[in-house]
Amino acid sequence: AAGRDLAGRHVVVSAGGTREAIDPVRFIGNRSSGLQGYALARTAVARGARVTLVAANVALPDPAGADVVATGSAEEMRKAVLSAAGDADAVVMAAAVADFRPAGYHGSKIKKADGAEPEPIRLVKNPDILAELGETRRPGQVIVGFAAETDDVLANGRAKLARKRSDLLVVNQVGEEMTFGRPDNAAVVLGADGSATEVPRGPKEALAEIVWDLVAARLEPLSPD
Ligand code: C5P
Repeated sequence: AAGRDLAGRHVVVSAGGTREAIDPVRFIGNRSSGLQGYALARTAVARGARVTLVAANVALPDPAGADVVATGSAEEMRKAVLSAAGDADAVVMAAAVADFRPAGYHGSKIKKADGAEPEPIRLVKNPDILAELGETRRPGQVIVGFAAETDDVLANGRAKLARKRSDLLVVNQVGEEMTFGRPDNAAVVLGADGSATEVPRGPKEALAEIVWDLVAARLEPLSPD
């Protein structure tokens, strides 16, 4: 049992999926339910951490004992995560952040004009929050990313871990029904130290506990004062 091994620590967890607005009623979104991030937040509270949960578009009850910050878009999530990360011992980016957003926002609902072809939606890149955390981290801060891959899972995961300068990357193999919205998950957790921890299919809570085990092992000891 891990007990209260995160007591005295502040951890930030992002959860859910961002929505990038097209017009007042439409957005580009993804299938993330927030279940994995919420399991991470609940288990961290149970292990004694102060938890900031940055949620995007999640229809789940707030976990008891966590500070929940509600966000919508990637840009909103970026501001909330970076501001909470300032004094954090660990940041876990479990959210599905949209890589792209519409280049322009239509202030009014886009109409279908009779007979006319629809306008294409041009996309621009969103900021990569995880990469920014990797670049701006305090010494000793532990950064954890998630990656959903459909093919070459391990090779893509290793490359992503290095590119984003994270300490740990939780790699899920995804297909339409393999992960999203399900209570269970299977993953490999890759470490910047070359480690690979296989997590067999099981409850998202079990994966969360293993992530915190790996984080706790990488935290610097608390100063005695
Ligand atoms: O590059 P990819 O989207 O696969 O990376 C996934 C990881 O990076 C997740 O931890 C996700 O939360 C994070 N991410 C991010 N900002 C983005 C895209 C992804 O923080 N714009």
